[in-house]
Amino acid sequence: GKGAAMVTAVAYRLATQHAERQRVLDALRLSREQLLEVKRRMGEEINRGLAKESHDQATVKMLPTYVRSTPDGTEHGDFLALDLGGTNFRVLLVRVRGGKRRSVEMHNKIYAIPQEAMQGTGEELFDHIVHCIADFLEYMGMKGASLPLGFTFSFPCHQNKLDQGILLKWTKGFKATGCEGEDVVSLLKDAIHRREEFDLDVVAVVNDTVGTMMTCGYEDPLCEVGLIVGTGTNACYMEEMQNVELVEGDEGRMCVNMEWGAFGDHGELDDFSTEFDRAVDDCANNPGKQRYEKMISGMYLGEIVRNILLEFTAKGLLFRGKLSERLKTRGIFETKFLSQIESDRLALRQVRSILQHLGLTSSTCDDSILVKEVCSVVARRAAQLCGAGLAAVVDKIRQNRNLSELKITVGVDGTLYKLHPHFSSIMHETVRDLAPQCEVTFLQSEDGSGKGAALITAVACRIRDAGQR
Ligand code: GLC
Repeated sequence: GKGAAMVTAVAYRLATQHAERQRVLDALRLSREQLLEVKRRMGEEINRGLAKESHDQATVKMLPTYVRSTPDGTEHGDFLALDLGGTNFRVLLVRVRGGKRRSVEMHNKIYAIPQEAMQGTGEELFDHIVHCIADFLEYMGMKGASLPLGFTFSFPCHQNKLDQGILLKWTKGFKATGCEGEDVVSLLKDAIHRREEFDLDVVAVVNDTVGTMMTCGYEDPLCEVGLIVGTGTNACYMEEMQNVELVEGDEGRMCVNMEWGAFGDHGELDDFSTEFDRAVDDCANNPGKQRYEKMISGMYLGEIVRNILLEFTAKGLLFRGKLSERLKTRGIFETKFLSQIESDRLALRQVRSILQHLGLTSSTCDDSILVKEVCSVVARRAAQLCGAGLAAVVDKIRQNRNLSELKITVGVDGTLYKLHPHFSSIMHETVRDLAPQCEVTFLQSEDGSGKGAALITAVACRIRDAGQR
């Protein structure tokens, strides 16, 4: 009768809605073949970035870091470190003790970088940094001390030596003017001189990936890869000098800052990306750049999720079809919400209260299920893409050494990797699957970038002092 027809109609509508949602989400699910292809293309870009003749056209820049060995435990002394480019700006005092009783003791203070400093002029940014250093020295009761300093500066830099870093391009939402193309050590020194209060001996510019590798290398000599999955994503590893064509010499190894976030900038990921990735890219302040990073890291995942939710809502598949102002607001989904929503301990009604907290009040129970599914699909894809890239790296190292099996440790840091309930395990599984000849151990670094900068500075000072004797 009529009732049955209505039930059928409702069932039909629900089934088409379900199919419609899955069709959208399927575009974000990558097959093993696709992931293998990502790995293959990353391997290709690695070689293009390393080779002199193709370097300029390569998206993955494979930047030499002038760090030639992991720490050996004899490093010692007191160092200052700066850490700019992650979630927070920090100034650190690091005491490194070498020998039998080796240890690293750290004191640090976190400072906010106000929006004006990030997006104003370079002078304002560096004046603010120097202001923070002055405050820290005062706070530690060390005004007037002139310690060697390691500067963790987590952006792509061209280096001709350890204590220089020419900023190639801002990433991750920074856009202070007058910095690109400049040596950040000079910018820092100029700001110190403007203040006329103290002097600093800047010994090393260090990418956060390199600091992380060094920190983990202090505990585990097999650690020859550094990985960050936080606000941005990037990796570094020890490459054979003979392959690092941008630097003279064939002996030994050098750590290479891959800047893999730019993978995809020449279209290498176009056949795996979606309209949502394009929407996120279009609205970022560096459109067309850092395409791989935009599919993986914390600064962008929430935006991908929000764009999918917008589409679902517009199609009447979510939030009763009501597009709220809130949902139209950029940046409402911070990484920590993604981690919370996917937490296994969280009941659905808590998902709902998170949504309510975000001002998405009209949500039903079904809405909560769908939102959670969207978060999970987006995070899984990110972890798998990251794993595919890492699989290319470890296989490259294995082939460099002509090994059929490689045992290696990857030092990792970053809020997304550390806080997300599933990211790390999916990423590990992907690496294991795509690089079966490598036995990869993951080591989380504690305070990797600051400690690492101090260790690199310590090694540099040791070598410099030896040279002066
Ligand atoms: C961005 C930066 C890179 C850094 C990474 C992680 O990709 O360009 O230098 O290592 O973020 O912080």
